[in-house]
Amino acid sequence: MSSSTVYQATCSAPVNIAVIKYWGKKDTTLILPTNDSLSVTLDQDHLRSVTTARADASFKSGDRLWLNGEEETIKAEGRLRRCIDEMKKLRQAKESNDSTLPKLSEWTVHVCSENNFPTAAGLASSASGFAALIASLAALYELQPEVSSSELSRIARQGSGSACRSLFGGYVAWQGGEDASGQDSLAVEVAPQSHWPDLQALICVVSDAKKGTPSTAGMQRTVATSPLLQHRIKHVVPERMTKISQAIQKRDFDTFAEITMADSNNFHACCLDTAPPIFYMNDVSRAIVQLVEELNRANEAEGKGKLAAYTYDAGPNAVLYAPKANIATILQTIRHYFPNADFDDTFDLLGKGVNASHRGAQEALGLPSSLPTSFNANVIPVHEAGAVRRLIHTQVGDGPRVLERGAGKESLLNDNGEP
Ligand code: DP6
Repeated sequence: MSSSTVYQATCSAPVNIAVIKYWGKKDTTLILPTNDSLSVTLDQDHLRSVTTARADASFKSGDRLWLNGEEETIKAEGRLRRCIDEMKKLRQAKESNDSTLPKLSEWTVHVCSENNFPTAAGLASSASGFAALIASLAALYELQPEVSSSELSRIARQGSGSACRSLFGGYVAWQGGEDASGQDSLAVEVAPQSHWPDLQALICVVSDAKKGTPSTAGMQRTVATSPLLQHRIKHVVPERMTKISQAIQKRDFDTFAEITMADSNNFHACCLDTAPPIFYMNDVSRAIVQLVEELNRANEAEGKGKLAAYTYDAGPNAVLYAPKANIATILQTIRHYFPNADFDDTFDLLGKGVNASHRGAQEALGLPSSLPTSFNANVIPVHEAGAVRRLIHTQVGDGPRVLERGAGKESLLNDNGEP
């Protein structure tokens, strides 16, 4: 190989939103969770992290990483260090089996990562970010298919727990595991995207002035103080993991929705049960809960199933899951009660390729005629403009993608290996 070969790969990785929540660690260094969790991977065409990783023997000042244009310090005992070192070990094992391979494991790496969604949107980016880091190093080191995605998820887990689930598309379980070494704490595919492609998501970005408790600190406070969390770990989650996996296998949206909403509420109840209590949902979040509950009640009164399921992570944003056929009704209802939300009409729901993100045009939006007849329009008031800041319509998606091997148009690093 010529000396000018550039050893580099660029990958993208998706966001995932849990329907059975991870909340609590039994080992904070290895990131071993107190319970199993399960998530839906969202479409990378709408939300993703992209990462370029390059190995170069001539890079002098140690491994470096840039996130959204800013250089991050790779701390000695930190999560980034651990992830990069574990990936180098896997490469080293490959090299020791094949002496013709370049010794990339001994070279310095430069990594550059970007999210296509603003952090200001209030969406967690650590899951897609760490998944993209691991995917790009795996592609750089040519580890797959010998090293499986579950094995890679074990390393991504040590960057951020929820990141391990972003190593797969579709419907994904993180098996918490029993072993103190963390060997059996990894993600597995419950069903691929293609099994149930009809599931879509509407993310309601809720305005929130104050910065909430970060999840890493918040969950350990819950572990230390909440008796309800112990009940959740022992009695609530195990049964729900089985039931929701079966619902996914059967594409049974009603059961999926029932468990998803119950688990979100149980997780937020554990936050409230923490001393001092943690509040992630606000009045707007709770109004969306009431609205979805009323939509479901009215639809079920007509002998039909649930229209949507809500779920909330460590912040006020709602993620609504629903079959594709229900989204237009849900969207128009949300836009009636929460006027002026920016909306990028990625699926052309409004027709004619209209980009509805222009503010002001939507104030008088009425309720859809498709609503179930007994729906109580007074269930919540019409909120002030911008209470829901932005709506993102997306769907279940695939796992990490290799965008490019070598240095080309996808690269986030320049010729010198810098952003
Ligand atoms: C509420 O994965 O961000 O989103 O492991 O400390 O990095 P660390 O925490 P993180 O926690 C996510 C918590 C959650 C629930 C979930 O995604 O399952």
